[in-house]
Amino acid sequence: MTTNVPLLSVKGLSTTFTLGNYSVRAVRDVSFDIARGEVLGLIGESGSGKTVTGLSILRLLPNHADMRADVLMFDGKSLADMSDAQFRDLRGRRLAMIFQDPVGSFNPAKTIGWHIREAIERRAGQLPNSHTEEARNLLTDVGIKLPDRVLNSYPHQLSGGMLQRALIAMVIALRPEFIVADEPTTNLDNIVERQILNLIRTHQKRIGASVLFVTHDLAIAGEICDRIAVMYGGEIIEIGSANDVLKNPLHPYSKALLAASVSLENREDYLYELPGEPGMAAPGQGCCFAPRCSFVTERCRTAPPPIRFAKSNHSARCVLDVE
Ligand SMILES: Nc1ncnc2c1ncn2[C@@H]1O[C@H](COP(=O)(O)OP(=O)(O)O)[C@@H](O)[C@H]1O
Ligand code: SF4
Ligand SMILES: [Mg+2]
Repeated sequence: MTTNVPLLSVKGLSTTFTLGNYSVRAVRDVSFDIARGEVLGLIGESGSGKTVTGLSILRLLPNHADMRADVLMFDGKSLADMSDAQFRDLRGRRLAMIFQDPVGSFNPAKTIGWHIREAIERRAGQLPNSHTEEARNLLTDVGIKLPDRVLNSYPHQLSGGMLQRALIAMVIALRPEFIVADEPTTNLDNIVERQILNLIRTHQKRIGASVLFVTHDLAIAGEICDRIAVMYGGEIIEIGSANDVLKNPLHPYSKALLAASVSLENREDYLYELPGEPGMAAPGQGCCFAPRCSFVTERCRTAPPPIRFAKSNHSARCVLDVE
């Protein structure tokens, strides 16, 4: 169920990493809203700033990152104005992240069962029973055939794929209102992937949760996302409903992405191939996609391209007219 007031509102988000003389503007002036109960997909090539966008919102950046935002509101409250303790409490209950690499989400000295029960208790308070039944059911839901064995295992005893599923079970146990899911099914086979997508959808529908779903897989994006934002060079270069972006892409980069993906028959190779490397334009230098764009003209290089709207909720950053 969606309402007009967004659960999350992000405006003018920029994140820069600086290490000695090395500086990279990983996320640049990114803005989007996510409604309650909505799944917003973030798609784009590796290095386009998808993960850093999620980490920035959840304040999980390393010390050498500088994050700024004009607006960063969750449920009517400014995340930027919260103390670290207030934010940690929120992140442990109402916000959660499914990381691409699950290892860091677990305490190596505790069993998987301890982690999932802890998540259930954080949500529901201490209950008389030990929540084992719910933990077992959650592990079954993520496709684990021997849940008791996994509940009694320590993180290092599980394979990467198994640990990823345990992490997803742990996050769902928390029943958060907002989840950043960062390529959550990348290391899993197709059957398990399907189970995980169904589980995220079920959770999202059950409590009206919102999800920022990061993926490079356009088929998955089309399946799970209500809206899609395309990232390139740290910027959102197109945003709209999943149907509009995937069926009628406006930006030359989105068009190339889509065209390449449908020409690939092997789903394992779904990642598109564009000529050249993803670029990061310097400030004020114009369109970040100019070095790889077949439609580039001089004016693309001199000033940032305007945002053009095909519909009120479908826009792209490009000098070309949108149809
Ligand atoms: N911890 C970090 N320190 C320095 N640079 C980083 C760090 N994390 C990401 N980056 C840089 O930020 C850019 C965006 O990265 P990322 O958001 O991980 O891309 P994506 O998730 O789209 O593959 C890349 O150029 C990457 O090298
Ligand atoms: S602004 Fe110019 S270079 Fe950038 S995508 Fe549009 S046509 Fe291509
Ligand atoms: Mg990433």
